[in-house]
Amino acid sequence: MRAAPIERLSRVLRDELGLTGTKVGCDAGDCGACTVLIDGKAACSCLIAVGQLDSAQLDGATTEVTTVEGLGGYSANFEKLSAAFLQHGAAQCGICTPGMLVSATALLECNSAPDEAQVLDALGGVLCRCTGYRKIISAVLDASVNSTASRDAMCGAVDDRKISGTGINGNGAARQDVAPGVVGQRVPRIDGLRKINGTEIYGADEAPAGALTLRVIRSPYNHARFRFGDLAAFVASHPGIHAVFTAKDVPGKNCYGVIPDCADQPVFAEIEVRFRGEAVAAIVGEADAIDAFEPSNFPVEWEELPALTTIDAALDEDAPRVHANRAGNVLVRGRVVRGDVDAALRDADVVASLEVETGFVEHACIEPEAGFARRVGDRIEVQSCTQAPYMARKDIAAILGLPEGSVRILPTAVGGGFGTKLDLSVQPFLAVAAWHLRRPVRMIYSRPESIMATTKRHPARIRARAGAKRDGTLVAMDFQADFNTGAYASWGPTVAYRVPIHASGPYKVPNYRALTRAIHTHLVPAGAFRGFGVPQGTIAQEQLYDELAEKLGMDPLEFRILNALDDESPTVTGQIFGSGVGIRECFEALRSKWIAARAYAEAANSSGKGSLRRGVGVAGMWYGCGNTSLPNPSTMRVGLKRDGRIALHQGAVDIGQGSATVVTQICAEAIGAPLEKFDLLPADTDVTPDCGKTSASRQTFVSGTAASLAGTELRKAILRIADACECAQIEFGDGAITVEERGERRTISLCDLSLDARGYVVSAEATFDPPTSPLNSDGQGNPYAVYGFGAHMVEVSVDMELGTVQVLKITAAHDVGRAINPTLVEGQIEGGAAQGLGFALMEEFFPGKGENLHDYLIPSAGDIPPVESILIEDPSPIGPFGAKGVGEQALIPTAPAILNAIYHATGVRIRRIPATPDRVRAEILAAAAAGVRNG
Ligand code: FES
Ligand code: FES
Repeated sequence: MRAAPIERLSRVLRDELGLTGTKVGCDAGDCGACTVLIDGKAACSCLIAVGQLDSAQLDGATTEVTTVEGLGGYSANFEKLSAAFLQHGAAQCGICTPGMLVSATALLECNSAPDEAQVLDALGGVLCRCTGYRKIISAVLDASVNSTASRDAMCGAVDDRKISGTGINGNGAARQDVAPGVVGQRVPRIDGLRKINGTEIYGADEAPAGALTLRVIRSPYNHARFRFGDLAAFVASHPGIHAVFTAKDVPGKNCYGVIPDCADQPVFAEIEVRFRGEAVAAIVGEADAIDAFEPSNFPVEWEELPALTTIDAALDEDAPRVHANRAGNVLVRGRVVRGDVDAALRDADVVASLEVETGFVEHACIEPEAGFARRVGDRIEVQSCTQAPYMARKDIAAILGLPEGSVRILPTAVGGGFGTKLDLSVQPFLAVAAWHLRRPVRMIYSRPESIMATTKRHPARIRARAGAKRDGTLVAMDFQADFNTGAYASWGPTVAYRVPIHASGPYKVPNYRALTRAIHTHLVPAGAFRGFGVPQGTIAQEQLYDELAEKLGMDPLEFRILNALDDESPTVTGQIFGSGVGIRECFEALRSKWIAARAYAEAANSSGKGSLRRGVGVAGMWYGCGNTSLPNPSTMRVGLKRDGRIALHQGAVDIGQGSATVVTQICAEAIGAPLEKFDLLPADTDVTPDCGKTSASRQTFVSGTAASLAGTELRKAILRIADACECAQIEFGDGAITVEERGERRTISLCDLSLDARGYVVSAEATFDPPTSPLNSDGQGNPYAVYGFGAHMVEVSVDMELGTVQVLKITAAHDVGRAINPTLVEGQIEGGAAQGLGFALMEEFFPGKGENLHDYLIPSAGDIPPVESILIEDPSPIGPFGAKGVGEQALIPTAPAILNAIYHATGVRIRRIPATPDRVRAEILAAAAAGVRNG
């Protein structure tokens, strides 16, 4: 192999040598996913030209380059690190894992007993968006020679009340009723090894031989008209470019969207673009020609038009419509009303009010969107990263004008999703091109393209008031929120409908009015991002309740405990659960730590010198699992094979949260089979039934229940073959099962048994659709069958001179119903808390600026404090083994708890999020000036 000296080492490793364990997240030295060892030193391979090595001829070079694939042969430390990463659950989506492992190996090679600061330093150049880093740090410390001491040092992140395998129930008492099995066990994730050894296949890691490359031509303007030049002449004059595709080449509907009634986004814009980054055309050709092409040379003329870039501009009565059929630029309105809020606020003893604003937040998945498509006869196959294979199948079928059965979606591993990979990205372009060209076509979004063109968290402007009686009882809340949903609908309706249901928080609020709007602007579409708008609403609501508590002279935690929702009280939609409402237990689990931390902070502040002030804040959260009052089914299929193994058609896409492992644990428990006997068939619309999308914290609850039902049915079917009763034990052997019943054992050979229509000895399929009810015009009804609950306590230090905020510790109590796999649950909590910290303090995307990972900052390892997880298990009556979701729940309370902690430390409220140092400092100065004015 001979590479041009100017080639990036990362590209040569991946494309020329097939070493795809080295990942590319930015091509700019920002993410560290491409880290390799060069003569034993960790370095970003995307920043190194092969000519910088001793020789451009790698296989004869004297410089030694070691990738994740070669770490095992390079260092004995790799084996220890691998085991520790598996045990700690340090790999979630796994896209950062090779970079982490390479960096950790380099560290241990030169320092076999690092302390935590040295580990942080070594890992500081590799970004992880999933884990919150703490489990990675613990794993590296565990792999070091002084691992026992290291583990002890890490125990700030571990609490003696935390569950270990069996758990505590809502009263904090040890569970007595846990059957032996795999549910509740800290088993390593099923796909963990592939993520660690670099063999996992992500969107960019695979394409058929001879695949062409596609690049999208995008609008440089927020709003513009455009006209193409001579496209045929363009192709003819560009050797290596085979074709150009535009809207007229879309065989079916040039329109898609995640919510069918609101679908409005074209594959390629026609005449007019509505946001910077919108696609107008795609060029397809040989990789070299496409890579070398400068998009500004594409023959298109732009006429820039005035753009609506703010909520106020879009709501102006003279504003032009972003979409002709949406009056006032309002996409949808949400509404939940209960009681008489105006009268209750009038009669309240105290009332607090506020206005809060948040900005766009970028998902910053370390894996940019990528995949390939190929035409197979009259079918199209699309392999790419996605959170929603069946939704993608439906939209691609419509775009190509094909029946859904003619489209096959093969999800790859997903290197972080968090909601943004629910929407289509590369898939429609690839499908259109491969369909016409009858050749496979691949594409990988660049980092700027990914940031520019994919969905964001909705910016929000929220006004709210709440009132309480003198005894602290909440009596009313009045909440209004406008969400900037950008140019196209995406998940705007979901946000507008979900937020009013949740804006009360997990509290008893008898009089309530929550009104929301999703507003179109000429900016990038806002979509789903871990919480569907609830994190923004909770920032307002949890600060508001803090202010009410202060006006009442009450402790903020006790105010929340007093008003916490319980099993028998109606929610703001009138739903009464009867059981499984564990929010009070979450708050009570924080009480002793809260008292100690508040006392310590106040003592430190009163005696403190210098500019640092400490603060402690708390916030609560609830979050409905699954779709809002809509059908939300998941189907699981499981079959016993003649070799005695169990095939699980597991179509719940694992985006790092661990659904493949958790669903298998649930199914194994239902059957009474060991995990080692399972063969997983991962999501593939030709092979796995529809498990719905991976969103709304639904997979453990919905797909887990389907897996439990299917497993139970399979167990019954097996027992029927053996003519055994339900209490019998089943052993799964090689090509046989043995059934033990009342002391008798019978072995049944499976080899000669006939197969059923699905190709198994016996099989079962089960569907679960959570019981919900439609909401009436006042938003009353049962929107979700199950909610998850949680409360975070955050300790901060604020520099009053600089406005900088350091988060010192997060204590997170979550009612997860039943922790199917406590390690994975903790991973979700730690990762969610890290994203919540970024949301509170540093993350804001300004369209057109900072479309990279050095201007758009996400938390790095050094930003994340110890996170203490406290798992409460107040079982859901319908979740599998009592389980509820935790994926989105984990992010929601962190930001408001931080903001309340900043107030405790400084006495100032931050109304514009994120609380960057300039904003914090400005509020401190304003408060000081007001204090002087007021004497
Ligand atoms: S791909 Fe090299 S640092 Fe991100
Ligand atoms: S596990 Fe680190 S980015 Fe996903």
